[in-house]
Amino acid sequence: MCCYQCPVGISMDVPDEVSRQSSFAAARVPRFVYGTAWQESHTGRLTRLALAAGFRGIDTANQRRHYHEAGVGAAIAAAIASGLVRRDELFLQTKFTSVGGQDHRLPYDPAADLATQVRQSFQSSLEHLGVEALDSYILHGPARRFGLSASDLEIWEAMEALHATGRTRFLGVSNVGLDQLEALCARATTPPTFVQNRCFAQTGWDREVRAFCRERSVVYQGFSLLTANLAELRHPALARMVARVGRTPAQVVFRFALQVGMQPLTGTTDPAHMREDLQSYDFELSGEDVRVIEDIARL
Ligand SMILES: NC(=O)c1ccc[n+]([C@@H]2O[C@H](COP(=O)([O-])OP(=O)(O)OC[C@H]3O[C@@H](n4cnc5c(N)ncnc54)[C@H](OP(=O)(O)O)[C@@H]3O)[C@@H](O)[C@H]2O)c1
Repeated sequence: MCCYQCPVGISMDVPDEVSRQSSFAAARVPRFVYGTAWQESHTGRLTRLALAAGFRGIDTANQRRHYHEAGVGAAIAAAIASGLVRRDELFLQTKFTSVGGQDHRLPYDPAADLATQVRQSFQSSLEHLGVEALDSYILHGPARRFGLSASDLEIWEAMEALHATGRTRFLGVSNVGLDQLEALCARATTPPTFVQNRCFAQTGWDREVRAFCRERSVVYQGFSLLTANLAELRHPALARMVARVGRTPAQVVFRFALQVGMQPLTGTTDPAHMREDLQSYDFELSGEDVRVIEDIARL
């Protein structure tokens, strides 16, 4: 059995799988996460459908421009009130987004210092989500494309202070390159437990960052696994594999992600796709299939 940090040991979200793997269930880190970006007024309805389909990990952000965190909170409250889930079965993750990534609907005072912005945004997230603590709090992205700025480190320090109070179980960082992740891990008192990146087949599915994560027992969360890889999803080698295993291209890509130790994100708005995505658990790709997908952009 692996601990929660071990990418291959993170728990399944299908309830009977959780009960079969009690030590994973205790860590409450599901293997598949439902993402809630770009859903606007449908956020609550879709989050409820995702919970009903079996997802137990929910990703959002206190960034009104792309997410409706309060809609997620309403769905969680309804799901708990109806007895569908208990809070302790859920993995709730949200993000701190700097001013540059926000529109006018800010969850903090932009004139305040960065540590105050982080505290205000975090408090507002707890209120939106109707919870006393989060499972994971993510820095939405560094200020620059390369390297870390003093402001990134100031924000991380404020996030570490929240972690120290026990109001978030884990910290994470998103949209990072290898150099930024290495710098953060070298400087941090509390290093990230999660890295959330857009995952392109063109870069070997973020091969270098994933390798670093594996070495450090950081869980790699991959997003845009389908939308960033449209050409690869049509590749004849993938089509042959899809026909052989009798699954959809999406299921094969998500299954690949699970087998290489990623925690995939899906934000599907279709209940049939929600069920289909969770069914990526119940089949296996061969080692050779995994190698083919890993290198598919070079074939
Ligand atoms: N940290 C960041 O900066 C960042 C950025 C982007 C996203 N994210 C997170 O990642 C989540 C997922 O975003 P994403 O970029 O991966 O895209 P996504 O929102 O999951 O979109 C997937 C697209 O593929 C389609 N699709 C077709 N078949 C599907 C299937 N079987 N399963 C799933 N989708 C299928 C979906 O259509 P249907 O709706 O019709 O299924 C949808 O148009 C977001 O909601 C957010 O939480 C984070």
